[in-house]
Amino acid sequence: MPDGGLWPVIRKAYMSVCVYLGGVQKSRLLSRRGKGFFILKGEAIMEGEKKKVILSGIQPTGVFTLGNYIGAVKNWAAMQEEFRCAYMLADLHAITVRQEPKVLREQILTCYALLLACGLDPEKSVIFIQSQVPAHAELGWMLACYTQFGELSRMTQFKDKSQQHADNINAGLFTYPSLMAADILLYQADLVPIGEDQRQHLELTRDVASRFNGIYGNVFKIPEGYIAKTGARVKSLADPTKKMSKSDENPNAYVSILDKPETIIKKFKRAVTDSETEVCFREGKDGINNLMSIYSAVTGRTLDEITAEFAGRGYGDFKAAVGEAVAEYLRPVQEKFARLMADKGYLESCYRQGAEQAQRISSRTLEKVKKKIGFVQ
Ligand code: TRP
Repeated sequence: MPDGGLWPVIRKAYMSVCVYLGGVQKSRLLSRRGKGFFILKGEAIMEGEKKKVILSGIQPTGVFTLGNYIGAVKNWAAMQEEFRCAYMLADLHAITVRQEPKVLREQILTCYALLLACGLDPEKSVIFIQSQVPAHAELGWMLACYTQFGELSRMTQFKDKSQQHADNINAGLFTYPSLMAADILLYQADLVPIGEDQRQHLELTRDVASRFNGIYGNVFKIPEGYIAKTGARVKSLADPTKKMSKSDENPNAYVSILDKPETIIKKFKRAVTDSETEVCFREGKDGINNLMSIYSAVTGRTLDEITAEFAGRGYGDFKAAVGEAVAEYLRPVQEKFARLMADKGYLESCYRQGAEQAQRISSRTLEKVKKKIGFVQ
């Protein structure tokens, strides 16, 4: 028996058990966090660090336009440093409009490569194809049961699209917002970068999430919209009161990010402007305002600088300059795209990895929802 009796021995044994358990606790915690949301390869796990979660999506229904790039995807790329991001190709959404299988398949691959070419980095973010993660369709169905017919009937996009596709007003077109809610809520996203046209869908997402939480407790994070400071809303070159859209019937209305430099320059030369001659940003000059915003986005110059640059030079010169600047701006994206398309194996490894990560993250929310609803697990 050591001096001082049994106590010091007990205390020492107790302390070493504590240190051991502390270690176990810590390593459990780390491995739990390691498997957790968006802790990706090579990322340091820092105590106390809590980046906000971003989720956004884009439909693979055609090559992205300059508008998709400047207005959305370029910002998504910039956000990868500051946030934990998940970006998705919304192919389940795309089939609310009839798609040709061969074309759809090609477009999904092309668009995936384009996301990477535009700067999304699979080592930093989760970049995936929606249909490869079954949790979206599952939660989409469940949330449709918590979305009211009246709410869906009020969606302006549903009204517009049912006019455009009067021969195919399907149930998916109607319940589309419930699926979009599932996309967002599965990842417990804090912020959702969206364009103006998706604002109503995000509002509905928030309503459905609050309703669900009201019934079952805190299951979903209520997401906020995120409108980037930069990245103008690019308008159609043929009708500058409308958004530039990849589904426009008139190919001169949009610039695809894969258009050849000559095509880009030609499209800008044909862009609709007005009957004046002065390059300046003013109400009523929608066409010129649009070209100025584009020129500003691709060159980094301010509107005042642009006005000064083209003072007394007329629209012809200005349009040519915008076309050339855009062609130059898209060149590195096009080069990267060509490299990616030449390496299908790499592309495939990226979307498989993305799907696995997305599956792991989303299954947690899905399991919780199923349990709350009362399904047998
Ligand atoms: N509905 C969006 C669009 O057409 C695409 C989309 C689907 C989306 N799911 C999303 C965007 C989730 C943001 C978050 O543009």
